[in-house]
Amino acid sequence: MAILSPSILSADYMHFHEDMDKTKADGAKWLHVDIMDGHFVPNMSFGYSWVKAMRKITDLVLDVHLMIDTPIKYAEEFCKAGADYLTIHVEADTPENTMACIDKIRALGVKPGIVVKPNTPAEAIAPYLPKVDLVLVMTVEPGFGGQKFMEHMMPKLKQLRTMLDEVNPGCHLEVDGGVDLTTGEICKANGADVLVAGSAFYGAPDRAAFVAAIER
Ligand code: DX5
Ligand code: ZN
Repeated sequence: MAILSPSILSADYMHFHEDMDKTKADGAKWLHVDIMDGHFVPNMSFGYSWVKAMRKITDLVLDVHLMIDTPIKYAEEFCKAGADYLTIHVEADTPENTMACIDKIRALGVKPGIVVKPNTPAEAIAPYLPKVDLVLVMTVEPGFGGQKFMEHMMPKLKQLRTMLDEVNPGCHLEVDGGVDLTTGEICKANGADVLVAGSAFYGAPDRAAFVAAIER
């Protein structure tokens, strides 16, 4: 069974608390939180004080996606803020720092994740696969919600599922970008078990039905 991780980036910011409560009432168990620094990606979003505030009002699983340079500098703050999963980009730092950051997140009692941008091959994250609880495959260029799904990422998704089955079968495989009910089925068929959806979920006429369709 798949898990939906609604991306709060697409929520109504003037009704943030209400949207979070509704997301839970609609049946979601996870919440995807996009952190952007205006440098690693050409956009800005939330900081760790937001994650801390969100943690106070929800028991949804906070799936925090760091789109920031040098995540090792900030990982501790996000862990302390209450992230359940903290996912860093392989492109954001050196291999040494990436490995050290994963270890640091784990030591702080949070589940580490690693993410690849569309042009980064699966092999780039091979060394980290045994050490993470979540692998995220971007199906758009990170930075903005509402972009078109890149179906040509599916062979990479499938390849990562095969690689994980060998070294870390319990690890989640997540997709992010352009996921709706149609593209979501394609992702599931190619091995994804956690699906992020922002604009399609928050724009859906019946969000509870959206959760049920993804998670059936
Ligand atoms: C994009 C973010 C996504 C975004 C997805 O950089 O990482 O999580 O919110 O939005 P949709 O589902 O609209 O593509
Ligand atoms: Zn994301």
